[in-house]
Amino acid sequence: MCGIVGYIGSKQASPFLVGGLRRLEYRGYDSAGIATINSPEGIRITRVAGRVDQLDQAVSRRPQVATTGIGHTRWATHGPATEENAHPHVGGHGVLALTHNGVIENYETLKQGLLALGYTFHSATDSEVIAHLMAECLKNISAAPNATTDSVDRYVEAVQQTLVQLRGTYGLAIVFRDRPDMIIAARLGSPLVIGVGRGEHFLASDTSPLVGFTERIVYLADHQLAVLRADSIQVIHRDEGKVRPNVQQLSSQTQEVDLGGFPHYMLKEIYEQPESIRNALRGRLDKDNGTAKFGGLNLTPQQLRSVRRLLLTGCGTSWHSAMVGEYIIEELARLPVEVEYASELRYRNPPLEHDTLIFGITQSGETADTLAALREMKRKGHHTLAICNVIGSSIAQEADGGIYLHAGPEIGVASTKAFTSQLTVLSLLALHFGRLRGLSFEAGQRIIARLEELPELIERTLECHDKVRTVAARFADATNFLYLGRNTNFPSALEGALKLKEISYIHAEGYPAAEMKHGPIALVDEHTPSVFIIPRGVVYDKVLSNLQEVKARGGPVIAIVDHHDPQVARLADEVISVPATEEFLQPIVTAIPMQLLAYEIATLRGCDVDKPRNLAKSVTVE
Ligand code: AGP
Repeated sequence: MCGIVGYIGSKQASPFLVGGLRRLEYRGYDSAGIATINSPEGIRITRVAGRVDQLDQAVSRRPQVATTGIGHTRWATHGPATEENAHPHVGGHGVLALTHNGVIENYETLKQGLLALGYTFHSATDSEVIAHLMAECLKNISAAPNATTDSVDRYVEAVQQTLVQLRGTYGLAIVFRDRPDMIIAARLGSPLVIGVGRGEHFLASDTSPLVGFTERIVYLADHQLAVLRADSIQVIHRDEGKVRPNVQQLSSQTQEVDLGGFPHYMLKEIYEQPESIRNALRGRLDKDNGTAKFGGLNLTPQQLRSVRRLLLTGCGTSWHSAMVGEYIIEELARLPVEVEYASELRYRNPPLEHDTLIFGITQSGETADTLAALREMKRKGHHTLAICNVIGSSIAQEADGGIYLHAGPEIGVASTKAFTSQLTVLSLLALHFGRLRGLSFEAGQRIIARLEELPELIERTLECHDKVRTVAARFADATNFLYLGRNTNFPSALEGALKLKEISYIHAEGYPAAEMKHGPIALVDEHTPSVFIIPRGVVYDKVLSNLQEVKARGGPVIAIVDHHDPQVARLADEVISVPATEEFLQPIVTAIPMQLLAYEIATLRGCDVDKPRNLAKSVTVE
């Protein structure tokens, strides 16, 4: 979703700003812009309704001398993706410019007040309201009889006066026409990180723009405001006043990401899965005790043993992981598990005992709904844990403990390697809880052996790519798909359908295979392919019957199997074979052909696989 960058120092600002925005492109956006302070001209705004490449061209057309500036990639919320709605927005006839991530809920009321004061609005955004409101506060403070003309305090005071009037979330970067030696940043619910350099400072909404510029970073916390100058940073908390900036080392996991010879990040990330799964397992298998171990749950074995229920929450793909997790944990640990969409959980008030442990599952660690749901659960006294990929993200910081995926940066908007790493971690968790409860040492050892085989198994699974290409070529023109499976393969079906629809824009629905006859079977005709996930297992024969029901109605069938069955081979139009594994690990294996199928169909249809329309990588608004 929206991205922010900022630079102040002795070098030209625009190369960092444009380059930084390029590194934030993966988050999803539809317009981009920068504001630089070019003396004596004042604040110069360059914005485009389009890609960072276009912004780069627009910036290059006019020479820049500015050594202070801010930039933004916008994902439209209030008003369409036009140049006028793109950030930065100017406040009060050019006294300041700001970029904003987040949503201001009371913007309409504030706007009415500012219109009455004579301010003119050029955009439909809530962010322009903040810019004018801040300009108004600054004007009033400056007009006070004892005002010192250019004191930093005056600007800080104007920002603070503005912030208390806002209801909603913000990550803000602000530059002032008359103070080119300063950027002010402020955060509430929308992440910001400062890069500490020598004689220069950087600002960004996540660490990716900072890589290669500095290894020292300061995460801004909620209700903190920072004054960045070339040679100093001052951090001020709303309630605590000045606080010492907590300088941390940039994680080595946040390496520069390139395509490594692949045409798209999504494909690269699909192929990284043997390694990302290996990393999720690394150091967590305890063979001596036939269990899994974690460093960051911050709970004693005694506390874990007294847990009576787990609640797993997340959004999108992470919610699908939670659903698979429910099956696995209940099966191996005999522990009741609830799964809730985070967006629903945050406004529900489910009756939960205090011995319910809450897990928020999230790749980015920034999803607004998941963060809000965890906060709500924490408020009610539950221990909250994050299963998260991005180190230092908001959810990772706010949860009481958690498990990192260590999958490395996931750039493609469609989640692939994070999904299989989440499933790997949930399997480890099921083993851990199982061994604290009824699971035998022998069963634990058998599970460990299967988990250890996983990376190699995924390497072999990737060999299905050629077959998937053929299948994609045959069905790329379809306008509807069904994905069907049972047991753990039901959430897999949901995930397969989500992958296809988000990157190829083909309508796809996932269903429990047996549920199909209660409605969706009406969709079956010769133009609607059904992807059946049908590996061996307890419900194999049942799913085979469902497959026959589809064939009997003329529906084309793509079967994902883990063994040769002449009956399936005869019935299905296409068969994709994957290696066999334990039933609870099947969703990790069968995810691969479905990811590849979505990828191949989307590229055949000419879709922008890594940046699908309307989607954002981390959804930081409600
Ligand atoms: C997955 O392909 C999606 N793009 C999306 O559903 C995603 O999983 C969801 O927004 C949750 O994100 P998170 O894991 O970063 O919280």
